[in-house]
Amino acid sequence: SDIVWLREVDSTNEYAKRMAREGAPHGRIYIAELQTRGKGRLNRGWVSCPGDAVQMSMLLRPDFEPPKAPAVTFAAALGVTSAVRRVCGIDAKIKWPNDVVYGGKKLCGILTEMSSDMDRVEYIVCGMGLNVNQQEFPGEVAEKAVSVRIATGEEQDRVRLAAAMADDVLAYCERYISGGIDTIFDEYCANSVIIGKEIKVLSGNETVTGVCRGFSKQGELLLDIDGETQSFMAGEVSVR
Ligand code: BTN
Repeated sequence: SDIVWLREVDSTNEYAKRMAREGAPHGRIYIAELQTRGKGRLNRGWVSCPGDAVQMSMLLRPDFEPPKAPAVTFAAALGVTSAVRRVCGIDAKIKWPNDVVYGGKKLCGILTEMSSDMDRVEYIVCGMGLNVNQQEFPGEVAEKAVSVRIATGEEQDRVRLAAAMADDVLAYCERYISGGIDTIFDEYCANSVIIGKEIKVLSGNETVTGVCRGFSKQGELLLDIDGETQSFMAGEVSVR
């Protein structure tokens, strides 16, 4: 695959967006050893773990309308899950919208950003931060995060994992881009850890509790609350 390895950047997503504006091609992947201003979802930061994590961003140039962009994240999550399973043999799952989890803890976070012009997507940057060789996490983070090393008990080959991730994420994204949501939807649902479960969703500043019924084909979470179904485009889910 088309991978650019970088030593230090502000954020691989920001770097990829700058390259996109300069005409970089579809499918190019940027991996950085160190991020000085890593970005997380919902305007949060993302702590860089040089030497221990894989931080990458993939540039995509699909020829479709903006409402189709959010589900790219579904494809990316499937790609990460597939790579981690294939290379490390661990049963990673997906927590909507885009966390890859193991044993209820976060293994990989994904942040997808889009730029559109009129009614077409100009480019999408899909950024992934995978915890690979961390042996432990500090304080409260330890309750929420896990690394592949902690999950398997073995040190991992980060370059091999990064290459597998690049291949599988691109393959799933291209499958979605050319074939649409039906080509990945069932697999996404089969790998979801929240379908049928009672969950809490923090969306904006309200928290709601309900049973996850599944997802819409636009990528929304469908939640049954007292017999009525509500859909969420964004939010933070916790399994009770
Ligand atoms: C989340 O909040 O779960 C998403 C975290 C995404 C982190 C990755 S690391 C590589 C890429 N560059 C960034 O600045 N963020 C993403």
